[in-house]
Amino acid sequence: MNQADLIWMNGEFVPWEDAKVHVLTHGLHYGTGVFEGVRCYDTEIGPAVFRHTDHIDRLYKSAELYYMPIPFEREQIRSSTLELIARNGLRSCYIRPLVFRGYGQMGLFPLEAPVDVTVAVWEWGAYLGDEGKQKGVRAKVSSWRRISPDSLIPHAKASGQYLNSVLAKIESHKAGYEEAILLDDKGHVCEGSGENIFIVREGVVYTPPQTASILDGISRKAIIQIMRDMGIDVVERDIARAELYLADELFCCGTAAECVPIREVDDHAVGAGQPGELTRAVQSAFEDALHGRTERYREWLDPVPVELYEAAQTSDLVA
Ligand SMILES: Cc1ncc(COP(=O)(O)O)c(C=O)c1O
Repeated sequence: MNQADLIWMNGEFVPWEDAKVHVLTHGLHYGTGVFEGVRCYDTEIGPAVFRHTDHIDRLYKSAELYYMPIPFEREQIRSSTLELIARNGLRSCYIRPLVFRGYGQMGLFPLEAPVDVTVAVWEWGAYLGDEGKQKGVRAKVSSWRRISPDSLIPHAKASGQYLNSVLAKIESHKAGYEEAILLDDKGHVCEGSGENIFIVREGVVYTPPQTASILDGISRKAIIQIMRDMGIDVVERDIARAELYLADELFCCGTAAECVPIREVDDHAVGAGQPGELTRAVQSAFEDALHGRTERYREWLDPVPVELYEAAQTSDLVA
């Protein structure tokens, strides 16, 4: 991975190589952590974090769902993240805030273990590759079902829950596909291993509703709004597996992957086997929003103040 200089750890900026934890950190053993995946883009108005507040809100919500009080104000996480980007001299990067039960308590009752908070930033290209974004990816319906609300909390972005995505991802990779599509516990289409999914039929876009155990994706929300603003009908409803094969177009979206066409599912070509017209239009409108090229979506951007880059040049801000 592309290393940066500094990581924010429990209120301090520490050198990348010193951002360490003890092997008896609670979260390492039991998955007791929650996290976010966020991106900063070099936009028309300078480096800016996409839907920063939404990501921070979801982080706090995930933490609360797992009884982890975050010992920092939201604003401190936000401003420290902007400062971290500037102090690392980055103009575009992936951002990974992590809240986890730390060192000091073992066993399954975690409420006395400390809650640690870190934010890391690094340069990270499109998760499913630039070629995937261009030409579309091949996906496989996973034999693993998405975690159900009977056992875990699908709406939380919790570390331990990602073992589900990891199994699906490995299975699809070993079978020669680029991404996995998970069905939910009822057998309805749910989402990719790290992306929400949309199908297009006869000009209407369908996507699974919250009741399908999806993660309430922030890119999903943005793309739904963009499509409605474009005059496209978007319907949130259960989707049967066979509808994946009958779709004219398919695409998925997530912060790491961005907006990616799916050109094949379980060896069935989707439509003509290449990204369709509607997908291309949505992908391009989404890219415009991410890069600040569309005035009406500029409010989704949280700019990194230019003064922070200037201050980072002076010796008193360097760790
Ligand atoms: C399981 C899962 N679903 C959906 C998404 C998409 O969410 P977002 O657009 O908020 O990144 C992600 C990525 O965070 C994910 O890990």
